[in-house]
Formats: sequence, C-alpha cells, structure tokens
Amino acid sequence: MSKKFFITTPIYYVNSVPHIGHAYTTIALDILARYKRQQGTDVHFLTGTDEHGANIEKSAAAKGVSPKEWTDDVSAQYRAMWKELNISYDDFIRTTDSMHEHVVQAVFEKLLKQGDIYKGSYSGQYCLSCEQYYDESEMLEGGLCPVHKRPLTQVHEETYFFKLSKYQDALLKFYAEHPDFLSPRFRANEIINFVKGGLRDLSVSRTKVKWGVPVLSNPAHTVYVWFDALINYISATGAGTVLCEDKTEHARHLEKLGAEKFEDFWPADLHLVGKEIFRFHAVIWPAMLMALGLPLPKKVFAHGWWTVDGEKMSKSLGNVINPVELAHQYGTDPVRAFLFREVPFGQDGDFSITSFKNRYNSDLANNIGNLLSRTLNMAAKNMAQLPETAGENTPTHARALEIEKTLDAYYQDLAFDKVLESVYAFAGDLNKLVDEKKPWELAKTDKDAACAVLLELVGGLRYIAQWLAPFMPSVAQEMQRRLSAGPIQKYPPLFPRLEEKK
Ligand code: ME8
Ligand code: MG
Repeated sequence: MSKKFFITTPIYYVNSVPHIGHAYTTIALDILARYKRQQGTDVHFLTGTDEHGANIEKSAAAKGVSPKEWTDDVSAQYRAMWKELNISYDDFIRTTDSMHEHVVQAVFEKLLKQGDIYKGSYSGQYCLSCEQYYDESEMLEGGLCPVHKRPLTQVHEETYFFKLSKYQDALLKFYAEHPDFLSPRFRANEIINFVKGGLRDLSVSRTKVKWGVPVLSNPAHTVYVWFDALINYISATGAGTVLCEDKTEHARHLEKLGAEKFEDFWPADLHLVGKEIFRFHAVIWPAMLMALGLPLPKKVFAHGWWTVDGEKMSKSLGNVINPVELAHQYGTDPVRAFLFREVPFGQDGDFSITSFKNRYNSDLANNIGNLLSRTLNMAAKNMAQLPETAGENTPTHARALEIEKTLDAYYQDLAFDKVLESVYAFAGDLNKLVDEKKPWELAKTDKDAACAVLLELVGGLRYIAQWLAPFMPSVAQEMQRRLSAGPIQKYPPLFPRLEEKK
C-alpha cells in the first residue's frame, strides 16, 4: 500500500460554542481534501474532539451531568455540524477513545523511561477559580488574578516535566533545513525567534485535574491536556501498533481505515491550525516526535482569525456567528465560498452580513449564476441537446487549460482566495464574451455561429463547475447536472439574488 495524503484539523474543545471561526479551519481542510481527491490522491482527512481538562470537568458539573455525558453530547454536536457544512472527513477521533488513551499512556511511559520526562515540582502563583498558574507578566498589579481580580495562592505541586529545552537546537536545525515546514513565512519567523529565545521544560502532568488520562506508573497524576491532545494525530492512525504492548484495538482501527500500518499515514502531510495554537504544533509537537524518534510532519500551516464587525466573537457580546444558522439561511455552499474569497488564507478577516450579501450577489448571483442561466436559456432555444464535448479548440478552452495549471500552484500554497479569484475572473470573462458576441442576435442570421459560441460557453462552464466543486460541492454537482450531455431543461436560478434589508 502506498502512503496516504494525511491531513488534519485540530481537535475541537468540547467546552465552547462553535462559531464561524471554528468552522473555518475545518472547511479549509475540506476544500483541500476535495481538491486532492479530484486529482486522484488517496486522502486521509482526520478531525475530532478534545475532551479532557479542568474546564470540561467544570462545564459538565455546571450542567449537572458527568464529564462523559457532557463530552458525548458535545462531540456528537460537532459531528452534526460537520455534516451540515458538508465536511468530508475520513476519521473522527475523540481523546476519550480508549485507543487514544492507551497511546497517550504508552508515549508518557516511553519518554519517562528514556529520561525525556522526569519528575520535579512546580511552584507558582495559582488562581483557585481559574485552576491555572499565572506568571508575573500576566498578573494584575498587586499579584491579582487577571480574570477574578482576587489574590493568587502560592502553590507548590509535584509534576512531571517534558525536556523541551533539550530539543531547542534540533528544532532550529530542522526549521532551517525545511523552509516549508512552518507556513506562512511571516508566522514562521515568530516561532523561530521564540525558540531562539530559549525553551523551558514543560510541565506535562497535573495532580489537581481528575478528568484526564492517568499516568500509568503514577495515577495520582493525569496527563496535561495539550500533551494528550497533540498525540491524537498518531493515536488515530495506528501508532498504537508500534507503541503499545496490546496492539489489538489499534490494528482493528487500521483495518477499519483500509490501511495496514502506521506508516501508511505517518508522517502527516499537513497540520492545519489557527494562529493561536501554532506554537503547540510548531514547537512542542515536533519536539515530542523527535523524542519518540518519529518523523516530523511535512507542514504546519497557521491561518488567521475572524472577527465580527471588528470585534472578537464572544457569548457576552452576543455577536457569535453560528455557521449552521448562516448555512440554513443562505445555503452551506455560499457560506463556504465566502470565507475563502473574502480574505487571503493566512490573514485575519472581519465578517459582516453586508459583505457576505455583497459578495453573494456579485460573485455568485450576478456572475456564475447569471452565466449559467443565460447560457442554458439561449442553448435551449437554439439546440436540441448538449453534446458530450463542447467548445474544444476555442480560446476559452485554451484559457481554461492555462488556468488549471495555476490553480494547482495556488493549492500548493493554500491560497484558496486566489483559486476562487481566478475562477470568478474566468466566469466574468465569459459573461463579457456573451455581451460582445450577442448569441441571441447572431442566431437570427447565423445559427451555426451562435451555437458555436454557446458551446464554447458550455465548455467553459463545465470547467467552472469542476473548479468550484471543492468549495461548493452541492452547487457544483447541480451545475454539472444541468450542463451534462442530453436534452436542455428549464431551471430556477442557482443563486437567487439577495435583497438588502431596508
Ligand atoms: O484550540 N477565527 O481547539 P479549539 C479563526 N483543542 N479560527 C478560529 C477562531 C476565530 N475567531 N476561533 C477558533 C483548540 N478558531 C485545541 C486544539 S489540537 C491538538 C488541540 C479555530 O476548539 C482555532 O484556531 O479552541 C482552531 O484551529 C480551531 O478553531 C479549534 O479551536
Ligand atoms: Mg481555542
């Protein structure tokens, strides 16, 4: 078996209300997955939920349910949301899966045995309400908790440390030798400077947190939630067949995925993450893999953040944009496409309903939708049916072949905005061609010439449908159906215009 193209989203915290920003990472990866599958690549797309930690224990308690009931419920809500948003993931991992917990325990014991994890103690200023340490730079004046504005407590606890400091030079060497590992470039420099500034060993166990994976050799400790979460990328892909003594459940999972061994997946081709968790994926995770003697992923890409009308989304501000509600109102596909046309991937962006409606009307209703309906309406008047091949040996066809080459380069860079920009520009040019050639007038004098123009347009539209499919899978399928060989029918508009509310 050849290696799969293995790509991942972060696993989602089950303690927050998902908004359009969360959906962004997963839709982006879905677009890439669909494009690669279209190219004939054997894609494996992994996502899941991150279910341990003190905050989750607290959320469950506040709802009066057990952490297990709470995480079952929220994890299922994520899966339902991905279904609504047309996400074509291949596997969904939960950090409460026994398979995952066993790999976390095996990793911890292996690193403990080889000295990359050691027992020590941690002293610091702790907020009992936040259940979190704060250092000098985070505290308010007078040593107060920045959230509760109350005095912090001096706490001294036993903890295990991961020897992150040991990997500082190896990480810097790896970044230098693999210039594409950290993307985009302007974010890579932040990371490199951070590592150059010196790495401290990382506390990777907690005695205060009960809802976590117990350390096998010392169950008074649970594994720190980030250390636990990062391991999902290998526990979900059969690392247990290499790291665990009992390989049964891991082998069964590989079989379920249609694979034979861990190396069919690992190393990952891409970890896609938001910018606030880049450091975990660019520094800690690679160091963990080095300690395990496993190859590093090919690329870690950090995208930017969405705000709404210039503000961070939050429950208290009441400005959380729910992606499912938006999709119900305007259609899943237009929402997916908007997020990637509006903002260059990697940059921050600001969401507003006004800009959504403007783009919907200009890119989809007036451009793509209009081109499709005017072409098919004129074709219906002038020909009995559409042929298998249309518009070959035309300038439009030649242009499409050129564009196709540039699209591949854009996908290499995850420049989703440039892909859409090219496709919309091509559609715009075809609309201009209609205006110039006026097939409806031409048909009065030279029907063959009019039909040739219409077939050139149909050929172009077939490319457009194929190029849009990763972004708008259902819409593209409907376009393909309407453009397929055979009798031409009457159809309602693909993208009915949205009116601005008065
Ligand atoms: O961080 N704009 O999970 P998460 C853009 N469990 N992206 C945003 C966003 C916004 N406003 N808000 C969130 C976690 N995201 C950890 C990951 S992986 C081993 C553990 C993105 O549920 C965020 O950047 O907080 C991340 O990519 C994703 O939503 C999940 O975030
Ligand atoms: Mg987060």
